Amino acid sequence: MLQYEARPARRVSGVVEVPGDKSISHRALMLAGIAGGSSEVRGFLASEDCLATLTAMRCLGVGIEQPAATHVVVEGSGLRGLKGSRQPLDMGNAGTAMRLFAGLLAAQGFDSRLLGDASLMKRPMERVARPLREMGADVRTHEGRPPLDIRGGRALHGIEYRLPVASAQVKSAILLAGLYADGPTTVISPSPSRDHSERMLAGCGVRVEVEDLRVRLHPPQALNSLHLTVPGDFSSAAFFIVAGLLAADGELWIRNVGMNPSRTGLLDILRRMGADIEVANMRENQREPVADLSVRACELRGIEVPESLVPLAIDEIPVLCIAAACAQGETVIRGAEELRVKESDRIAVMSAGLEALGVGTTELPDGLRIQGRPGAAFSGGDIDSAGDHRIAMSFSIASLRATGPIRVRDVANVATSFPGFLEAARSAGLDLRVSEASSP
Ligand code: S3P
Repeated sequence: MLQYEARPARRVSGVVEVPGDKSISHRALMLAGIAGGSSEVRGFLASEDCLATLTAMRCLGVGIEQPAATHVVVEGSGLRGLKGSRQPLDMGNAGTAMRLFAGLLAAQGFDSRLLGDASLMKRPMERVARPLREMGADVRTHEGRPPLDIRGGRALHGIEYRLPVASAQVKSAILLAGLYADGPTTVISPSPSRDHSERMLAGCGVRVEVEDLRVRLHPPQALNSLHLTVPGDFSSAAFFIVAGLLAADGELWIRNVGMNPSRTGLLDILRRMGADIEVANMRENQREPVADLSVRACELRGIEVPESLVPLAIDEIPVLCIAAACAQGETVIRGAEELRVKESDRIAVMSAGLEALGVGTTELPDGLRIQGRPGAAFSGGDIDSAGDHRIAMSFSIASLRATGPIRVRDVANVATSFPGFLEAARSAGLDLRVSEASSP
């Protein structure tokens, strides 16, 4: 089992670039696979999660070349050209892949089975199966969880669906199925969630109408091919944003970061805590905003995080907890019950990890109270990441305010979202190394 050892460091500086956006990379492969003609994706995230999607698309008969790790050329099969896979499709750790494929495959003329690793096999799938069934699909879960068994050959109907929770994955699955429906499909969200699918579908020529929290998709005859450069993943940049704030010294630039407003809730939250983050060179890249960020060390104060910002920072809450632990006063995060069904129960795992490093926390059903300790917030200690990539990376950032080494167990899954994290973190100034640990 791999572990990180993060020794105390004080200065972060220089320029880092984070790999391509995970959400956009998954979607680009799927849409390019059902588009007409040849698509080209640069800046593709060659992480385990996105490679699971790539392999699955190949199993569905799509021709994909990878001239370089981050450069993908897809020969689209057309909207109705996918072929059934002879073996079950393995989504690995990737919840996004499983839920989006559920929508795409529910509409095909063949049967499919989707499964994943031990973490994914425990995650809730009825949230996606239910609306697809309402559209006429035959999607079966096993007591609400994977494997997903999808019977093909069903005629799908357009529906109007109110999502019970703000979920971009469920919204996207319904929209993908809606491409094949006999009429328009409408999804209404209780609050905003990431909108990469809407933007990319529109970029492929699909008629998508967005009005506040309502998205309406009109089934197309065909999808235009994609020519896309994927921006850096804001969720990966988040570790360096917090690192720059917690360091005692230095200025860190993070270049080429996706700034889609449905993703950048962490910036609003950190600014409310007193953070100094500069956004420079804001530009638009194929319907997605991109910028360079500069972060400097500063003192943070604890806040009650507005619940409306939580879905816009959902994957960044673990690293926000590290920032909160270093702030003056208490930080309260609520309305984040979705964290309990991510790659791990992120509320429980963050709370246990912070406590192990001497930080006072109270676990709430839907969040966490964290007692900030300005200065050296953390003792050294041992953390179990529960195999969750974002937990592993978050606790390595804590070393910037630690009095002793922090060892984080079970970190191999960092490769699901951020290949090259270790090198990027070291180049910024963290004293981070990886080693083989004996199993518990
Ligand atoms: C994602 C949506 C989010 C996020 C996940 C990626 C996506 O999940 O947590 O990492 O690409 O659509 P939910 O939509 O379930 O909130």
